[in-house]
Amino acid sequence: MEKKNKVFIATSLDGKIADKEGGIDWLHSIPNPDNNDMGYGAFMEGIDALVMGRTTFETVCGFDMDWPYDKPVFVLSNSLNQLPSEYQDKAHLVNGSLTEILDQIHNKGYSNLYIDGGKTIQSFLKEDLIDEMTITIIPIILGGGTPLFGELDAKMEFECVETKLFLGKVAQNRFVRKR
Ligand SMILES: NC(=O)c1ccc[n+]([C@@H]2O[C@H](COP(=O)([O-])OP(=O)(O)OC[C@H]3O[C@@H](n4cnc5c(N)ncnc54)[C@H](OP(=O)(O)O)[C@@H]3O)[C@@H](O)[C@H]2O)c1
Repeated sequence: MEKKNKVFIATSLDGKIADKEGGIDWLHSIPNPDNNDMGYGAFMEGIDALVMGRTTFETVCGFDMDWPYDKPVFVLSNSLNQLPSEYQDKAHLVNGSLTEILDQIHNKGYSNLYIDGGKTIQSFLKEDLIDEMTITIIPIILGGGTPLFGELDAKMEFECVETKLFLGKVAQNRFVRKR
């Protein structure tokens, strides 16, 4: 089975995934009366498991709702020894090099992975381990916050293979790594 690492994320116009306070309320700043999921459900159907950074995991744990995933979740952390007990049946703590972590996840039979969290995506990009990115752009400039992208040693080319406009206001582009 072909192995793919995919990103599905929303950013501000200035490329942030959270605002200066770490908030993500602005993601819902465009009225969405019919709760259009902008492709999230279809994307989730196509993946086998999620790999997310500890900060994104803690954000999800803080949501006032039930655990939102029905696929295995692997949480990257070098600071945690274990996940909080109420999440131990929902997510797995992983650490080590990305190659070791990916080997471990692939050996469990999961090939199509959803990579989530800014620092996490940046560390995957540093090792050229991202194959596809769907980026939904919320038309707001936050003026600071958590960036999606960081510095890389070399340029990295992608091809835009699909563009959609949601709610008449929100552009979504799907980029595939040019190899
Ligand atoms: N706009 C969106 O669609 C969207 C989507 C996802 C998240 N978010 C927001 O983005 C913020 C989280 O992103 P973030 O960039 O702060 O962090 P992140 O990628 O979620 O988490 C970073 C943490 O993951 C752990 N980690 C372990 N190994 C790592 C590795 N190889 N590479 C990277 N991280 C590794 C580290 O935790 P330890 O310190 O424990 O070692 C690190 O501090 C939150 O505010 C969240 O709400 C927004």
